[in-house]
Amino acid sequence: MQDIERELLIQQVNAVLDNEPNAIANAANLCALIFASVPRLNWVGFYFLEGDTLVLGPFQGKLACTRIPVGQGVCGSAVAQGETLRIDNVHGFDGHIACDTASESELVVPLIKHEKVWGVLDIDSPHQQRFDEQDQIMFEQLAASWLANSELKH
Ligand code: SME
Repeated sequence: MQDIERELLIQQVNAVLDNEPNAIANAANLCALIFASVPRLNWVGFYFLEGDTLVLGPFQGKLACTRIPVGQGVCGSAVAQGETLRIDNVHGFDGHIACDTASESELVVPLIKHEKVWGVLDIDSPHQQRFDEQDQIMFEQLAASWLANSELKH
């Protein structure tokens, strides 16, 4: 993706999420916008934290695992570490959970607001080394837009 394409997607997401407080509706539309706009992806979706388990939320792509314990897989590790994990080759990640066997690289952004983790935004690609630093920054900005616009309930 070119910088201008990334910028346009961020603007589009901000416009769609603006004035809509429903977290699930915003998550669903964010997944749809990412999946339609970002090339070379096979899965994008949300997992929401319930206790010490991530539970599947809105997504685009094939059927996915519904529950991931914190600390397990790329998603659970991103929550445990409180930072984005960008994995060039999922086969080299100890404990990777293969929901879709097509996935080769993965980027997981933890959704953190007021020092609380609400879940993760998980993006998978069927190509190794699909995500670079600019992609990571863009997905972190998209996640921040979801956090800023959505009403989060305890
Ligand atoms: N690969 C993830 C599991 C979720 S799927 O990719 C949709 C993980 O290792 O946590």
